[in-house]
Amino acid sequence: MNDLVLHLDNIQKNFGGLKALSDVNLQVEEGTTHAIIGPNGAGKSTLLNVCIGRLKPDAGHVTFDGQELTGRKPHEIAQMGVARVFQTPEIFPEMSLLENVMLPAFSKRDGAFNMNAHKLLSRQSEIRAEAEHILEDVGLQEQITQEAGSLSRGDKRRLELGMCLILRPRLLLLDEPTAGMSRHDTNRTIDLLKKIKSRGMTKVIIEHDMHVVFSLADKVSVLARGQIIAGGTPEEVREDPKVKEAYLGGAH
Ligand SMILES: Nc1ncnc2c1ncn2[C@@H]1O[C@H](COP(=O)(O)OP(=O)(O)OP(=O)(O)O)[C@@H](O)[C@H]1O
Ligand SMILES: [Mg+2]
Repeated sequence: MNDLVLHLDNIQKNFGGLKALSDVNLQVEEGTTHAIIGPNGAGKSTLLNVCIGRLKPDAGHVTFDGQELTGRKPHEIAQMGVARVFQTPEIFPEMSLLENVMLPAFSKRDGAFNMNAHKLLSRQSEIRAEAEHILEDVGLQEQITQEAGSLSRGDKRRLELGMCLILRPRLLLLDEPTAGMSRHDTNRTIDLLKKIKSRGMTKVIIEHDMHVVFSLADKVSVLARGQIIAGGTPEEVREDPKVKEAYLGGAH
């Protein structure tokens, strides 16, 4: 087995009486794309929020690159090299696309806030060039001076992906990155995520769209009612009767 980038060990998360996650174990290998699928309300977003420190698990451990993440603050986890794209895009609507992509690079600790003016200026042009390149990668190069709030939902999601990429994360977590996109935009996003993979970034992708899962995932874990009920390659998971019952035969 390759090195593990992310390891979830017996994660449990309750919301009052609701067991949102029960004894969830997950191992994500370096350089792979690992999809998490499952019906609505299965606990997928909760799992992602536990990984990035937005939610504290009631039991269990999250390890990233051999380091304990459990109990760390979201900004610390981000600085360690974990980036995420949420289910609802979190962008700065009044700022331009270029500013949106540049901003995360400046908000890193040891980044711009600690620099002298000279270093800051040279870093700014470097970050700007990188942001322009990323906007081209995500297919938004025509709109770089436009206000982010004016973008379509699909374009906002691609912008948010660009905001992650400038951080050059080692692990990228994506919560339904193609939700609300047309088939054409979905295919563009698949191509983009494939390109990211070729750069060696490890990804965990929560996705309802099976076309996306089969196009991108090396491994799939299936979550239902807070538990991992199956795992394997996309083909193995597709043939698993438990999965057919819980997910593929359901509403999606
Ligand atoms: N902050 C919260 N407080 C209370 N209950 C919550 C909270 N967040 C999620 N839940 C509940 O936990 C369960 C899992 O929710 P979660 O959002 O993780 O599911 P999901 O698999 O991401 O669903 P979807 O496919 O609809 O995005 C649901 O029953 C949800 O209502
Ligand atoms: Mg969700």
